[in-house]
This record gives sequence, C-alpha cells and structure tokens, in this order.
Amino acid sequence: MSILVTGGIGYIGSHVSRLLQLRGEDVIVIDDLSTGDGSRLGSARLIELDLAGPDAQDHLGKAMRQYDVTAVIHFAARKQVGQSVEQPEWYYEQNVGGLANLLVAMRDNKVNKLVFSSSAATYGMPDVGQVTEDYDCHPINPYGETKLIGEWMVANATRAWGLRAANLRYFNVAGAGWPELADTAVANLVPIVFAALKAGNKPAVFGDDYATPDGSCIRDYVHVLDLAEAHLSALEYLDLDERSESVFNVGTGKGSSVFEVLAEVRRVTGIDFETEVLPRRAGDPPALAADVTRIRETLGWSAKHDLKDIIESAWSAAEF
Ligand SMILES: NC(=O)c1ccc[n+]([C@@H]2O[C@H](COP(=O)([O-])OP(=O)(O)OC[C@H]3O[C@@H](n4cnc5c(N)ncnc54)[C@H](O)[C@@H]3O)[C@@H](O)[C@H]2O)c1
Repeated sequence: MSILVTGGIGYIGSHVSRLLQLRGEDVIVIDDLSTGDGSRLGSARLIELDLAGPDAQDHLGKAMRQYDVTAVIHFAARKQVGQSVEQPEWYYEQNVGGLANLLVAMRDNKVNKLVFSSSAATYGMPDVGQVTEDYDCHPINPYGETKLIGEWMVANATRAWGLRAANLRYFNVAGAGWPELADTAVANLVPIVFAALKAGNKPAVFGDDYATPDGSCIRDYVHVLDLAEAHLSALEYLDLDERSESVFNVGTGKGSSVFEVLAEVRRVTGIDFETEVLPRRAGDPPALAADVTRIRETLGWSAKHDLKDIIESAWSAAEF
C-alpha cells in the first residue's frame, strides 16, 4: 500500500512527503521536475510525469496499480498569479487538465481518497478580515479560478463515484520544516525579502496607505510544517464514514502586517534594513486571514508555530 503525492518534490509537497515517510508510509511521488527538486525526494519513489501530458492517465493508472495506491495528495500545479494572467490557457491546461487526468485515473483504479491543494486565492477580494469557508468565492485571477474549479471537480467526483475528498485552502505558507526543504522560489514575501537583503536592496512594501493599523497589507502566515500536518489530519478524516465537511481553511487565524513581518525579519536576522514603499499592487485585499474554526473543530488541527518560528526557520535555511 502506498500514498501518491503529486508535486511531492516541491516546497509544500516535500514537507508532507517527509512527514509520511517518517510515519513509515510508502510514498510515490509524481512530478515533472519543473519547479521541483529531486534532492527533496528522501526515500520516496519518483515517477517523472507531466500530469497534464497526453499519456498521463495511463501512466497514473499504471502507477496506482503497481504500487497499490490507497490515497492521493495533489500538490502539482502552476501557482504564479501574474503568470496565470499572462498565460491563462496554460494554467487551465495544467491545473484543471492535470486534475482531470488524476481524477479519471483514480476513478478507474478505485482510489477513492484525495487531499487537494486549494488556496485562499479562491476568495478573491473578500471584504471581511477573517473569511470562513462559506464566504462566497470570487477569484480575481486565472490561478484562483483553477483552484476553485478544482474544488468543483472534486465535489462532482464525490457525488458521481464516491470520492472522499478534502480541499485545503492554504493561506500564506512560509518557513521551513527542514532547511533542505525550504522554499527556493522567490515568489512569496519571506523569500522575496531575503533575496532583496542578499542582493543589498531595500525590500519593497506595496502600499502603506491601506485601512489597516500600520497601513500595510495583513495576511495570515502559516508555517509549512503546520500545513503539512494538516494534510495528515485530513487523510485520517477521510477514513471516517461520517464526514460533514470537505473544504477547510488552513491558516493561524491571526493576521500579520507586512511591516510586522519585516520587523520580525530585522529581529531574527540582526540586519537593520530600510524598506522601499511602492504603489499598491492591483488585486491585493487590505487584510486577509483565515477563520480556522472549522478545521479546528472537524479535523482537530490548529497551527502550533507563530511568525517568529516561521522567520527563524526560513532564516536558518537561507543561504547567505
Ligand atoms: N506556496 C503557497 O503559498 C501556496 C498557497 C496556496 C496554495 N498553494 C498550492 O500548493 C501546491 C504546492 O505549492 P508549492 O508552493 O509547493 O509549489 P512548488 O512549485 O514548489 O511545487 C509544485 C510541484 O509540482 C510540480 N508540478 C507542477 N506542475 C506539474 C505537472 N503538470 N505535472 C507534474 N508535476 C508538476 C513541480 O515540479 C513542483 O515539484 C500548489 O498546488 C499551489 O497552488 C501554495
């Protein structure tokens, strides 16, 4: 028996894969190595495959039968908002097409448990500081749309053939559980700040005139190790016959402003840097944090790490 982890050598997938391996599970990773890194594989088995490629269903089905796959955790996706605006067709092909191939292979091979990487990007620009899962989703870019469509596809498979699924809507993921699994893409706030410091530049703050206490945007930063644990809780939940929910916010429930994150970076690194305030970016809600009541009450999960742990772990993994 084994667990199939798509995107299992990416930043988040490799943390989950590592936790599964530590629990003695056999892990099969499917990844096309586009942003993944083979050095994160550990003792898992790697099958190199583009999930959205023409033969993907056949290869997936073969792997499911050969390794007796009982559950899938699906991380593999394109995730850059700006790129999704420039190349929407490709985002649909990759994220929606890849998931469609996976669901067909699961249905045909009677693999009926799935944890799907969704995103707070499904909410778009909510006008509340803390969103619950019942809040109306209006994604504002193709990336967020592919995640919401993914949730619909999963819901349809649940109705049509009994898929058991959990959609985890991640908020702002950061930190490192192990230094070698750290986020190497310079796409999120903490890696962007570290990259700026490394280059001797002032980290940019996009907008300091929001209606928040210090004027900068507020986000809910969740430690990647906490997030990884949430996947294992979700897998356990899928074994229950009585399940009331299938969509869960994964965050801390507490927002931190960009200036608060930068202050923590100064404290942890000992570098007394200045910032450059730039105009607001289009589509940035002023404040976005998760209401985490559902995941706490239903899965018994809550975040154990705070912003300090996040910055410290990311800093100890950073190569300066
Ligand atoms: N990092 C975040 O803050 C965040 C927030 C919300 C949701 N997510 C979602 O979490 C998941 C993982 O994100 P991550 O930060 O680890 O990204 P990542 O880029 O580090 O990992 C994605 C992995 O999937 C692989 N991959 C991508 N497309 C593939 C395809 N078509 N076929 C096979 N493999 C493919 C990549 O090579 C990589 O190993 C994604 O679905 C992303 O949308 C991430």
